[in-house]
Amino acid sequence: MTRPLSPYLAPGFYDTALAQGRHREIVGGRWEETGRIQMEILQDAGLRSDHRLLDIGAGSLRLGCRAVPFLDPGHYWATDASRALMLRGRAVELAQPDRLPEDHLIEDSTFALPGVPPTMDYAIAFGVFTHLPFAVLQQALARMHPRLPHLRHLFVTVFLAEENEAAAPVRQADGVVTHPDRPPYHFRLSDVQAACTAGGWQALRDTRMLPRGQALLRLTRQL
Ligand SMILES: C[S@@+](CC[C@H](N)C(=O)[O-])C[C@H]1O[C@@H](n2cnc3c(N)ncnc32)[C@H](O)[C@@H]1O
Repeated sequence: MTRPLSPYLAPGFYDTALAQGRHREIVGGRWEETGRIQMEILQDAGLRSDHRLLDIGAGSLRLGCRAVPFLDPGHYWATDASRALMLRGRAVELAQPDRLPEDHLIEDSTFALPGVPPTMDYAIAFGVFTHLPFAVLQQALARMHPRLPHLRHLFVTVFLAEENEAAAPVRQADGVVTHPDRPPYHFRLSDVQAACTAGGWQALRDTRMLPRGQALLRLTRQL
């Protein structure tokens, strides 16, 4: 059987997992740790309660359940390939769901960001491009750039491989094995930086340790 390009593309994946109440597992578990570190990344970069945050590939709101209470009501927006997954997170994981209007949860699997206002100050795509081929990252970076004209920072996580090791499977710092041609994918830093430049972004690597050995990139718009 041919493997899907991403585990999330397997037929019935979301419906089955949600019917089984597994909305935390869908996004990889490690709920507290991974939500906390995303909030730290954003606050270290200056996120304030009056800023607007876009969570790209937000899943069941592992970040949202911390960001929504922190931000002013209505200042959190999210996209994901599954709106049902985000709605489940809103219903089950938020103490005050009314702080997050349902129409701020937008189904989007192409990174075109339909209906996302151009006023976002910060954006983050955590653990999203780790499951998608490099060409998707390239296209997403180029697509998102004109849609986010006022952005201070876009945070993206990827798995990286050294130049001379990237053609084969690589064991990451946290033990996860990544691949050049199937999920979880790894990329060369030079390729990622070239994709950022081509998409209109300047990328800086942040060396903090992330769950599963992901690498964090902080992107700012090129002047
Ligand atoms: C590992 S989870 C991370 C979720 C969230 N960022 C977090 O840290 O909790 C990956 C998420 O990417 C979403 N996803 C997968 N392919 C996508 C695509 N093409 N466009 C948007 N979201 C996608 C999945 O539905 C899933 O929620």
